[in-house]
Amino acid sequence: MNKKNVFTEMEGTLNPDDEKKFRPNGSDYYNPEEFNKLVKARRSVRKFDGEPIPDDVSMNCLELGLLAPNSSNLQAYEFIRVRDKGMIEKLAEACFSQSAARTASELIVCIARTDKCLEHCNEMLLEFKKMEKETGIETPKVAKLYYEKLAPFVYNVGPFSLYAPFKWLFFTITGFFKVVPREPVSLSDVRTWSAKSCSLACENIMLAYRAHGYDTCPMEGFDSVRVKKILNLNRHQYIAMILGAGKCAPGGIYGPQLRFNKNKFIRTI
Ligand SMILES: Cc1cc2nc3c(=O)[nH]c(=O)nc-3n(C[C@H](O)[C@H](O)[C@H](O)COP(=O)(O)O)c2cc1C
Repeated sequence: MNKKNVFTEMEGTLNPDDEKKFRPNGSDYYNPEEFNKLVKARRSVRKFDGEPIPDDVSMNCLELGLLAPNSSNLQAYEFIRVRDKGMIEKLAEACFSQSAARTASELIVCIARTDKCLEHCNEMLLEFKKMEKETGIETPKVAKLYYEKLAPFVYNVGPFSLYAPFKWLFFTITGFFKVVPREPVSLSDVRTWSAKSCSLACENIMLAYRAHGYDTCPMEGFDSVRVKKILNLNRHQYIAMILGAGKCAPGGIYGPQLRFNKNKFIRTI
C-alpha cells in the first residue's frame, strides 16, 4: 500500500495554532435554521421584473461564488456578468428566448476553463511566497511541490490533448499496483474537472442572490456555439451554465418545489 502522498504528507506539516489565523470568524459559526431557510427559499425563477440589481449586490454574490470550494484551489473558471440590455437580448435569443434569460436584469455566464492549470499553478506558487512574507508562516514543502510538479501533471492534458493517451496508459498501468488519480486524462475529463468547481461556485452565487432578496435561474438551455460567438469565447472556455438574475416578477415561479423521495438518492452504508 502506498500511504505516502501529498494528502498524507500535508497532515504532518500543520500547526494547530495557525488555524485561527486561517479561519478568523469561521470556527464558531452555527446557524442551521437560517441556512435551511435560505436553501429552501431559493427557487428557479423564470420571470424577472427587469429592475437593475445594485452593483454591490451582484459583486458580493460573485465574490461569494469565488469562495466555493474548488479543485486544488486552481480556480479554473470565470464569470461574465452581462448587464448591457442589447447584449442580454442577443444572449437571450441564443438561450432559446427563454423568459428566464429574456427578462433577466443580469445574465451571469459561468465558464469552466480547461486551459488554466499551469498558469494558476504558477500563480499559486507566487501567492505562497507573498503569504510567507506577510504572515511569516512558511508554506509546507509538500504543498509547493504539489503545485510545481503534481498538479501540472494531474490536471493538464497538454496542447491539443497530446498527453492524454500517455497519461491514460501511465495511470492505468501504475493503477494496478497503487492508488492513482484516474481522471482527468482526456480533454473531456478536464472539462468535467473544471465544470465541477464552476458549478459549486454557481450554487454559492444563487444562494447569495437569494440572501440579498434576488432570484436566479440556472440555464443549460442555450446554443453554446452562438453564445460563444456573441461573447467571443475560445475553445478552452466551456460554458457550464448561464444564470439569469433579478427580482422575481408575478408568475416567475412555475410550481411547487418537487423532488422525488429522498430514499431514492441518499444511501447510508
Ligand atoms: C444545470 C442546470 C440547467 C438548467 N437549465 C434550465 C434551463 O435551461 N431553463 C430553465 O428554465 N431551468 C433550468 N434549470 C432549472 C431546473 O429546471 C430547476 O433547478 C429544477 O426544475 C428544480 O427547481 P428549483 O430550482 O426551483 O428547485 C436548470 C438547472 C440546472 C442545475
